[in-house]
Amino acid sequence: MQALVVTVSPAEVEVASDAPWGLGVVAVEERVAGDLVELWTSLGDEPVQPELPWPWRFETVDETVADTWREFAEPIEVEAGLVVRPAWVSFEAPAGTTVLHIEPGATFGMGDHPTTVLCLRAVRRLVQPGCTVLDVGCGSGVLAVAAMVFGAGSAVGVDIAPAAVPVTLANAAANGVDVMVSTTDLADVAGEFIVVLANILAPTLVALAADLRRVLAPSGRLVISGILADAHQHVLDALAPLVVEHTEELDGWVAVTLRQP
Ligand SMILES: C[S@@+](CC[C@H](N)C(=O)[O-])C[C@H]1O[C@@H](n2cnc3c(N)ncnc32)[C@H](O)[C@@H]1O
Repeated sequence: MQALVVTVSPAEVEVASDAPWGLGVVAVEERVAGDLVELWTSLGDEPVQPELPWPWRFETVDETVADTWREFAEPIEVEAGLVVRPAWVSFEAPAGTTVLHIEPGATFGMGDHPTTVLCLRAVRRLVQPGCTVLDVGCGSGVLAVAAMVFGAGSAVGVDIAPAAVPVTLANAAANGVDVMVSTTDLADVAGEFIVVLANILAPTLVALAADLRRVLAPSGRLVISGILADAHQHVLDALAPLVVEHTEELDGWVAVTLRQP
């Protein structure tokens, strides 16, 4: 397994920790290296080349060490009646609870990050029986799988990380649903979708803005997350003329639902 090691000053740790996250990182470990800090993250066997403003390198790491976070994984209550269960953790669900079983492998999307939680709440709110869903940056496929479990007619997932394809397929199968997933660029995705989900960092959302608008059906809703509560107006500006319908905040992150004007 490849680890991405980003070297930063102590003052940059907080902002730099969010950057590898956008690459689909599951957990970031800080290691002191002299006067600097190294941020270690596992990126799977075929990591995407990152574009970062800090020095970085790849290191080959022992998979068992990279996976120690798994010992501490717990079921996540997204909201009343909806739980994401790490596939290797046993859990007795209260009656009436929808449980998503997720094995993230080397992808992002265990369900515990605030942005994933916010997107899952939006999926539950927005998905109507039979609607079409596009999950841009699907990672583990958790959002697309949730959409299908909540009755979507079809869900398409795309991600730049090759690992997202087998992981999403496996998670769909584990939850008894079908998701179509590939590494197709959003620019090459044809058609329009009733619900478009994009839990990706702000610079990527801005870069993808024109295509996110293009794939949104006239009566559709676009949910963006991966953005900070106090620094996302530029993303909304890039998505204009779409208008904000709903905003929810959790731990400094937000998910914003937009619609056509
Ligand atoms: C924060 S993760 C979200 C994973 C999952 N959808 C969730 O909500 O937990 C962001 C994902 O976007 C993918 N990604 C980043 N840039 C992308 C792009 N330009 N097109 C498609 N996917 C992208 C990353 O590989 C990563 O899997």
